[in-house]
Amino acid sequence: MNRTFVVDNNNEKFLHKISLYFNNSLEFEEKHNGELRKGLLIMGTHGTGKSSLFNVIQNMSRKNNDLKHLWHRIIHTKDFVSKFETEGEFFINNYVTGTVLFDDLGSEKIANYWGIKENIMCRIIELRYMNYKSNGLKTYITTNLTHKELQLKYGERVMDRLYEMFNFMELTGNSRRF
Ligand SMILES: Nc1ncnc2c1ncn2[C@@H]1O[C@H](COP(=O)(O)OP(=O)(O)OP(=O)(O)O)[C@@H](O)[C@H]1O
Ligand SMILES: [Mg+2]
Repeated sequence: MNRTFVVDNNNEKFLHKISLYFNNSLEFEEKHNGELRKGLLIMGTHGTGKSSLFNVIQNMSRKNNDLKHLWHRIIHTKDFVSKFETEGEFFINNYVTGTVLFDDLGSEKIANYWGIKENIMCRIIELRYMNYKSNGLKTYITTNLTHKELQLKYGERVMDRLYEMFNFMELTGNSRRF
C-alpha cells in the first residue's frame, strides 16, 4: 500500500539538499559543503525515511529513461551477510562494481563462512573504496548508527575511508511508521 509522500519540517531541507545532489548541482558543493563526486551516507534514527528515499529514486530511475543514470541496486546488509554465508566469495564479487545502496549498515551480524568469522561489510567497503579512488564508483549507505558507533563497529581504518567516500547527512525526526 502506497502512502502519500510527506514533505515537512523534518525532511524539507534534507530533501532539497538531496535533490541538488542527484541533479548534480554545484549548489550542493557551494552552499551545502557537499562533494558531488562522493557517495551518500544517510544517518538517522528508526523510521525517518532513509530507505524510502532510495526506493523512490530507484523507482523514478526505472520508470524514466532520462533518469537511468540514477539507477542503483539496493541490498539490505543483513541479506548481504546471509547471501555471503550461503554463496561465498562469488557473491561478494557481484557488489564490487556498480552503484549500490547498502541499506541499514550496522544491523547485520558478523558473517560466518565455513567457520571463518568476518565483518564482511569492512571488506566490501574497502573493495569499493579502491574502485571509488580509481573510477569514482558511487556507494550509498543508510544507517541508524552514529559516527562513534560506526567507528566502534567497523574500526578506524574503515571510518577513515568512509569519510573520504561519503557525504555524511542526517535525516532527523520521529519515526514515520504507524
Ligand atoms: N516522506 C514520507 N512521507 C510519508 N511516509 C514516509 C515518508 N518517508 C518514509 N515514510 C514511511 O515511513 C516508514 C519508514 O520509512 P523508512 O523505512 O524509509 O525509514 P528508515 O529511516 O529507513 O527506517 P530504519 O532506520 O528503521 O530502517 C515507511 O513505512 C515509509 O513508507
Ligand atoms: Mg531503513
